[in-house]
Amino acid sequence: MKYPLVIVQFGALFVSLVTSYGFRNCIQKYRSATTFQCMNRHELDIHSVVSDIPSTAKILTISRNTIRYLPCRSFSHLPQLQNLDMSYNRLQIVDSGAFENLSALSDLNLSYNNIYNLSLGVFHGLERLTQLFLHNNALFFLHPEVFRPLLTLRSLNLSSNHLNNFSNVVLALQPLNQLKNLSLCTNNISQLIHNHSLPGNLSTLFLCQNHLQDLKCHQDFLVKIKYLDLSYNNITSSSLQKVNLRNTNYLTIASNPHFNISTFLENPTIPPNRIDYSGLNLNTAYKLREICSYLRGKEISHLNLIQNNINFLPKATLENCSSSVQVDLSHNRLKNVSCLMFLNPSKLSALTIEHNLLKKLESCRKATIFPELKSISFRFNRIWSIDSHAFTNAPNLKVLNLNINNIIFLGKYCFSGLSNLRTLRLDNNLITDLYSNSFLHLRNLTTLNLRNNRVSVIFENTFQGLENLIILDLGGNKITQVKNGSFIGMKCLSKLYLDLNQIKRISGDMFNGVEATLQVLDLQSNKLQYLSSRQYITPFSKLHNVYDLKLPGQQPYGLVIIPRGFFKGLVSLRNLYLGYNRLTQLGNDVFDELTNLTYLNLAEDCNGVQNLSPGIFKNLVKLKFLDLENMCIESLSPDIFASLSNLRRLQLTKNGLKQIDIKIFENMTKLEYLDIWKCPLTCTCDNKDLQRWLNVSHVQIVYAYNITCSNNNSVLFHSFDTHVCDLKAKLILFCSSFFFLCLLTIIPIVYSKSYWRIKYNYFLFISWLHERWKSDKDLYKYDAFVSYNTQDEDWVYETMLPMLERCHSSKGLRLCLHHRDFQLGRDIVDNIVDSIHDSRKTLCVVSRSYLRSEWCSMEMQLASYKLFDEMRDVLVLIFLEDIPLRELSTYHRMRKVMLKKTYITWPIAPEAQKLFWAKVRKALRGGDIADDELLITDDEASLLSNLPC
Ligand SMILES: *[C@@H]1O[C@H](CO)[C@@H](O)[C@H](O)[C@H]1NC(C)=O
Ligand SMILES: *[C@@H]1O[C@H](CO)[C@@H](O)[C@H](O)[C@H]1NC(C)=O
Ligand SMILES: *[C@@H]1O[C@H](CO)[C@@H](O)[C@H](O)[C@H]1NC(C)=O
Ligand SMILES: *[C@@H]1O[C@H](CO)[C@@H](O)[C@H](O)[C@H]1NC(C)=O
Ligand SMILES: *[C@@H]1O[C@H](CO)[C@@H](O)[C@H](O)[C@H]1NC(C)=O
Repeated sequence: MKYPLVIVQFGALFVSLVTSYGFRNCIQKYRSATTFQCMNRHELDIHSVVSDIPSTAKILTISRNTIRYLPCRSFSHLPQLQNLDMSYNRLQIVDSGAFENLSALSDLNLSYNNIYNLSLGVFHGLERLTQLFLHNNALFFLHPEVFRPLLTLRSLNLSSNHLNNFSNVVLALQPLNQLKNLSLCTNNISQLIHNHSLPGNLSTLFLCQNHLQDLKCHQDFLVKIKYLDLSYNNITSSSLQKVNLRNTNYLTIASNPHFNISTFLENPTIPPNRIDYSGLNLNTAYKLREICSYLRGKEISHLNLIQNNINFLPKATLENCSSSVQVDLSHNRLKNVSCLMFLNPSKLSALTIEHNLLKKLESCRKATIFPELKSISFRFNRIWSIDSHAFTNAPNLKVLNLNINNIIFLGKYCFSGLSNLRTLRLDNNLITDLYSNSFLHLRNLTTLNLRNNRVSVIFENTFQGLENLIILDLGGNKITQVKNGSFIGMKCLSKLYLDLNQIKRISGDMFNGVEATLQVLDLQSNKLQYLSSRQYITPFSKLHNVYDLKLPGQQPYGLVIIPRGFFKGLVSLRNLYLGYNRLTQLGNDVFDELTNLTYLNLAEDCNGVQNLSPGIFKNLVKLKFLDLENMCIESLSPDIFASLSNLRRLQLTKNGLKQIDIKIFENMTKLEYLDIWKCPLTCTCDNKDLQRWLNVSHVQIVYAYNITCSNNNSVLFHSFDTHVCDLKAKLILFCSSFFFLCLLTIIPIVYSKSYWRIKYNYFLFISWLHERWKSDKDLYKYDAFVSYNTQDEDWVYETMLPMLERCHSSKGLRLCLHHRDFQLGRDIVDNIVDSIHDSRKTLCVVSRSYLRSEWCSMEMQLASYKLFDEMRDVLVLIFLEDIPLRELSTYHRMRKVMLKKTYITWPIAPEAQKLFWAKVRKALRGGDIADDELLITDDEASLLSNLPC
């Protein structure tokens, strides 16, 4: 009994060790088996975070925990790791050898920690590291050899630390032959004093936000640097003039208050067209013209004049910067762009004037044309009005960003002439009304963004000229009404965003003209609400091509009810968002039409306790992702997900599920990801199967090994004790096997003890059925059945038969002898039973060999049963030899019979034999004679000896 159970338990243990799936503090990224995220777990100990991650992991994010300490070989079981992000922890101490064995790691992010010291062997083993992020720590010193193992490092970010000894930094960089990018911004470096040169391949150097004043470096120290950021220091022009920058392609020296660019340009150590002119206080037309005189005739791709305090640009100020392709004037104080007359139109292709004080865009009907201008961005200004023809001077404009302004009113022809415009952004303004003529000429517009304005009604034909529009974003307005036919004319519209408005009713006619092209429809957070599920409403019935429909979060109380037929016609729908709607009474036919659905979100639809109707998902055979988070589900019927055989990801987070029947997962053969986090699972025998499944399935169960029992928070679900359940099972098992065992023991005993009795009784029963019990004595076929042993056959045939059968033929007894009278071909036992039954008496010829014989013993026994059955003595015993009682004791059955019965012994003396036969005959015939009458004294014997037979 014990062994099999032990084996079973051992087996379960083994299985759970091998295939368990789910992690204590990490989530394997859905559909990316080698990516793990262990964020916001408030974990202090690195071991408890990473110990259960498989060795195949390649990308690991452990940011936003509270880990303080990284011991040696923290990740030695993850040799394939390529990317490790430990940002936003509280690391202070990283032991030497902490990253040992991470020989495949290429990116290491240790930013936003409190590391103040890097011990010597910290990076040992990182032989393939290419990027190291150490920004936002507390480093003030670098050990000269600390980076030595990082032979392949290309990027190093040391910004936002407390480094102040530049010489020490350069020394530590010496082994980094491959280093290309180095950031040392926001440290405490005041001079570039150095004893060594920079790594030969270093080309990008950020030294912004330090305390650099006089650089004090060797003349050629920075000669190989291609990109140099010296902004936010206190560098003077004379100091920079001592440094050779002839190979530098980009230099920024913004916000160095004592830097005089004019002075510098008199004797520059870098070609002037490679300087970024931002933050140099070039706030007058004079200064700007001077700069442009240095740039005259020189190719300049980006003319950056950001943050120069410019508030006014007279005509032709930048005329000499004629080769500039992109001009950026952001973060100045310009109030007016004056039809861009300050610019040279020849090559300008992109103009950015963000974060200024622009108020009004005037008509530019007669202004100089900018034939190359393709893109304008006036974001983050204060534009409130756009005059008609404001952009006629840029006829080839493709992108126009007017978002984040104060635009209230769009003039009638404000965009006229922009027939090449593709993208128009008007979002985050104050527009209240849209008129059909505003967009009339924008034939090639593909994207129109009007999000976050104050539009309240969309009238018919508003967008009629936009025949190539693909995306229309009207989200975040105050739209209460969308008139029928509002979207007519947009022959290509495929994405329509109407989210965050106040639409209360939608009807099919709203989408007139775009029914065939519409693919994405966003109606999130409107005011749709239905009160009766008996209503039959089919607003989407013609939207056969919509594949994405968003309806979550209807205000203020949610959609509550989904009317009948609501999703009718959405035959192409793949993604349906219905979360945050407090849905009740989801009928089991709501989703019946949506046979192509792959994503269904019903999250946060809690409206009191509810359970999903059993057939609700029956047609969603293609569903891959089902989100049922926080729906207040308390139980799931076993076949609820039966047809979801393609489901990959199931969110059941935050429901009231105490038990989960694992039958619900039976048909989800492709399930990869299951979230049952924050369900109050109880650790009772009802969940025994779930626990077992959780330990052996190939599905990732989110934080599987951190789920606690709702009935005992100190116990983990995955390991709660199921022995009690097993005990019950064992008890049942024990009882049943005990019963079985007993049966097994009893049956042979019963079988051996009363086989014949059973057999005989069976026979009796059968014959009773056939011909009733022959109670009539005369119906006996034989007078006696003779039971004897073959060894005594001679005596029976030669002595007994003539005496009993042949003597007085008329009165001769009919004897049944098995050798003679048994029917051939019948089972011998059946023959015996039959013969005993058909004979009035059974005559046993007892000898020593008879006693030893099995058959004889059986025959006698059968006869004794007949004795009990008929309440009549049927047994006549003849003893052929004198067998003393003690010898009989081994044959206790015979002994029992003998103790009850009298018997006749075969006398050796021939005289006595006559009496013997007479007694036998009498016994066989009479049957009613008392047994003691058969006890014949020797006198009687002599008397009887004279009797004829
Ligand atoms: C880890 O690296 C050390 C030395 O660098 C080596 O002895 C050990 O075998 C490695 N362990 C594994 C698991 O690769
Ligand atoms: C490093 O971490 C910071 C902070 O979380 C993050 O912004 C940055 O993108 C990360 N860098 C890389 C390369 O992962
Ligand atoms: C910056 O470095 C100077 C010495 O160079 C030191 O006196 C000062 O305390 C440092 N400041 C910070 C914030 O570390
Ligand atoms: C910046 O440098 C000038 C001299 O070039 C000096 O007078 C001034 O005090 C410095 N400012 C700061 C904040 O160090
Ligand atoms: C499981 O899915 C198959 C088809 O994928 C379906 O025939 C079977 O009935 C489903 N099982 C249950 C229990 O519904």
